[in-house]
Parts: sequence; structure tokens; C-alpha cells
Amino acid sequence: MTEHQIEIAFKEYNTLTELNETDHDLCLEAVKAMEGSHSPYSKFRVGAALRLQSGKIIYGSNQENVAYPSGLCAERVALFYWGANHSDDPIEAMAVTASTDEFEILQPVTSCGSCLQVLAEYEKKQNKPIEIILFCNNGPVWVMNGVDSFLPFLFFEKRLNVEVKG
Ligand code: THU
Repeated sequence: MTEHQIEIAFKEYNTLTELNETDHDLCLEAVKAMEGSHSPYSKFRVGAALRLQSGKIIYGSNQENVAYPSGLCAERVALFYWGANHSDDPIEAMAVTASTDEFEILQPVTSCGSCLQVLAEYEKKQNKPIEIILFCNNGPVWVMNGVDSFLPFLFFEKRLNVEVKG
């Protein structure tokens, strides 16, 4: 029997103002993205903003539905839009934030497993890691370089996909 340990590396900043200007600006775009949230059931607004290599920003927000499982997280709304419309322009970074009037959010929202799996697919497709910036109104900012640090055992089987090389 061999026991393994995996370390997860990420950076923590106390405030958004400690980020470099490009990442700080992307966080402001994620705040803007929350305006599109359709969340009458959870009342939890999530915004995601992707910065592409060209400088273009893609917005996503959570879209809920009265048939609950039909809804989708902000991250996947943004990522699938990118996949459908801009996949020739690599994603450099994704900023995610959330807000609610119901309680105070003191820690950044960490993306769910399905969103991380989708992120991983596109990282492999573009062959470049995506910087992930998670923040909230009154808490720290967490920055990870690439989805591997989040989801080390993500599902990947290159023989199932002829398009993704590696
Ligand atoms: N949600 C996201 O949009 N992203 C996440 O990373 C976690 C959860 C949404 C889904 C749902 O609309 C609401 O937040 C409450 O779970």
C-alpha cells in the first residue's frame, strides 16, 4: 500500500486592489455579469467573466429554472458561450463572484465540480491553463493557475477525443 498526498497551490489576496490591473478589471466585469443572473429560486446571484487572449470579455451568470435541474451555473453559461462562439481565441482568465441579499458572503464561491470539469475540457482544447480568480464582496481573493489545482482527479481520457491533443 502506498499513501499519496496532493498539495493544492493557490494565492490569497486580502482585497481586489492587490491584484494586477488586468485581473482587477476582470473582477469588475464579473460583478457586472451578475446583473444578468436569473435566480428567483436561490436568490443567489453568480457572475463569471472570461478574459480572452484578444482582450475580449465574455459574460456569464447563473440561469435558474422552475424545473430546478434545468438551470445552469454562471461559469458554464460563460464557458459554453465561449466554446460555441470564440474557441479560436484562448481563455486567459476567469473571474467569479456572487452576491445575495439573504446573508453575507465572507468567502469566495468555489466553482462546482461540473463547472471545473467543463473548464478542464477547454484548458485541454486550447492547451493553456486558465487562471481562476474567485472573490466576494467582503472576503479574500483566491487565485489559482489552472483547474488541476482544484480538481486533480478530473475525468480525462484522451482516447475518447480525437480533437484534444496531449
Ligand atoms: N452557482 C453558480 O452559478 N456557480 C457556482 O459556482 C455555484 C453555484 C449557482 C447555481 C444556482 O443558480 C445558485 O448558484 C445556487 O446554487
